[in-house]
Amino acid sequence: MTKLNGIKACAFDAYGTLFDIHAPSKRVASELGDQAQAISDLWRAKQLQYTWLRSLMKAHADFWQVTGDALDFALGAHGIEDPELRERLMGLYLELDAYDDAVDALRNLKNAGMSTALLSNGSPAMLDAAVKASGLGEFLDHAISVEEAGIYKPDAAVYSLAVQHLGHAAEEICFVSANGWDACGAAHFGLQVVHLNRFAQPAERLPGAPKAVIGSLAALPDLLS
Ligand code: LAC
Repeated sequence: MTKLNGIKACAFDAYGTLFDIHAPSKRVASELGDQAQAISDLWRAKQLQYTWLRSLMKAHADFWQVTGDALDFALGAHGIEDPELRERLMGLYLELDAYDDAVDALRNLKNAGMSTALLSNGSPAMLDAAVKASGLGEFLDHAISVEEAGIYKPDAAVYSLAVQHLGHAAEEICFVSANGWDACGAAHFGLQVVHLNRFAQPAERLPGAPKAVIGSLAALPDLLS
């Protein structure tokens, strides 16, 4: 595995990388029945599509709005009309669980003196809530939201926020994402990227290549040491 050299700070994608995006539908699985995973997958797919489409349409709305719109589409596609359940799912999106490997990896990086950040589509309020609920706050120095750029990933303006906030050159920043397209976007911008391939996906056919691909965050500290 190729080690990354000269890294001074590490920025993480939030949803799907540190926070389990499927936790809300698992919590209400008994009500969603055997459609639970399909609804969760469609919710996520539409959420991402709406970020890209709104960026192309130059019609930005924050990630809370986009997440709600995507949930409405996913529930509608499955014939579910239940405002109370919809509100509960949205509430659960504010208190996502951290993935099991996240706490140890972040603690190791902090103990090694690394500066750490979230770099996410999430609105500041969403990131604040997720950090508090997951207990990851003590290991994260910054929570950087695309709201400052007013456009979504993979626009270069978003990855540029990491350079501005962390105060290091792009090639001194490691960016970690479980979203292959996000990994490509950040690498294309010039960050050193680790693709956390949690979901065992084939490589994206996009410009920008990650320096390393790992299956769990447990492998990250060694790559940066
Ligand atoms: C984020 C999405 C892409 O946190 O997962 O930015």
